[in-house]
Amino acid sequence: MEGQGRLVLSREVSSGGKVYTLTVGEEDLSRLYPGMIRYTLRLTLEGTTLGIFRTNTLEYSPGVPLDAEKVVRARAAEWETRLGKDPAALLASIGRPAESHMAEAGAVAEVLVIQGSPRADGNCSTLAGWAAEEAAALGRKARVAYLDDLSIRPCIGCYQCYNTGSCTFGDDMTGLIAALRSAALLVVCTPVYTNTVPGGLKIFIDRCQAYHAEKSLHGGGGGSKKGLLLSVAGREGAGNFACVKMVVTSFMRNLGIRPSGELLLGGMDRVRDVRALPDARGEVGRLVRDALGS
Ligand SMILES: Cc1cc2nc3c(=O)[nH]c(=O)nc-3n(C[C@H](O)[C@H](O)[C@H](O)COP(=O)(O)O)c2cc1C
Repeated sequence: MEGQGRLVLSREVSSGGKVYTLTVGEEDLSRLYPGMIRYTLRLTLEGTTLGIFRTNTLEYSPGVPLDAEKVVRARAAEWETRLGKDPAALLASIGRPAESHMAEAGAVAEVLVIQGSPRADGNCSTLAGWAAEEAAALGRKARVAYLDDLSIRPCIGCYQCYNTGSCTFGDDMTGLIAALRSAALLVVCTPVYTNTVPGGLKIFIDRCQAYHAEKSLHGGGGGSKKGLLLSVAGREGAGNFACVKMVVTSFMRNLGIRPSGELLLGGMDRVRDVRALPDARGEVGRLVRDALGS
């Protein structure tokens, strides 16, 4: 049974000749965020879980007159009352719980290449294509995700992923997280936009918080994953990449992905086409080969 933590409430409810049990557990998730506590309300019958409700302290913004403990206790009281009156109606309304958040099918890939530029035919697309070609030449299944073609809502900071290990939004991030879960190598291709990454890539990065939640709560994956950064900037100079490097490497580290190489190509507004740089294709190939240990 998934995490429940310290028991803070337990009730037996007799109804319709059956004895249901309601419990509330409290888990300290300070290892993830300082002060984060997750509460789990569980409804069981003869050891079988019939319903789960979870909430955590960070779900409640400062201006909201609620807190997680009050909410879970109120929900427990509501379930208790409804169980006493009509258990079938309660069970129909809460649905059967999925103990595992990872049941959803998704595309798998050994190498996930994120193409973060909004320009479909720009330099990052070329870099992404080279990385995928190299992986394929090594017999690895590669997938290139053009973020601009996908429907990905920005993270709303609801922290509900820390209740279940998955995001409440069911958009194209579900498939990307499935691909990330299976990938041994993540390649992030990004232009420098106003010294940092383009908005679409930042949205992807923030939404990967759900993958952080999944790994933190349920473990698995990530330990041996590697990451590459392939970036282009219009201007000359290493300083143009300072923020992109910080954003992308901290993103990778947060997910347990080891930054394992980078190619930073400045001066692209003058060069215009990365294919005009004689060493670029070879350098991408070398980085992918090294990261995949081939
Ligand atoms: C909105 C926007 C902001 C940009 N900001 C920067 C910047 O801060 N520094 C820089 O060197 N280049 C900047 N550039 C130039 C791009 O990094 C450069 O054109 C890059 O080659 C585009 O990559 P792509 O071909 O993959 O789309 C910016 C371009 C755009 C459209």
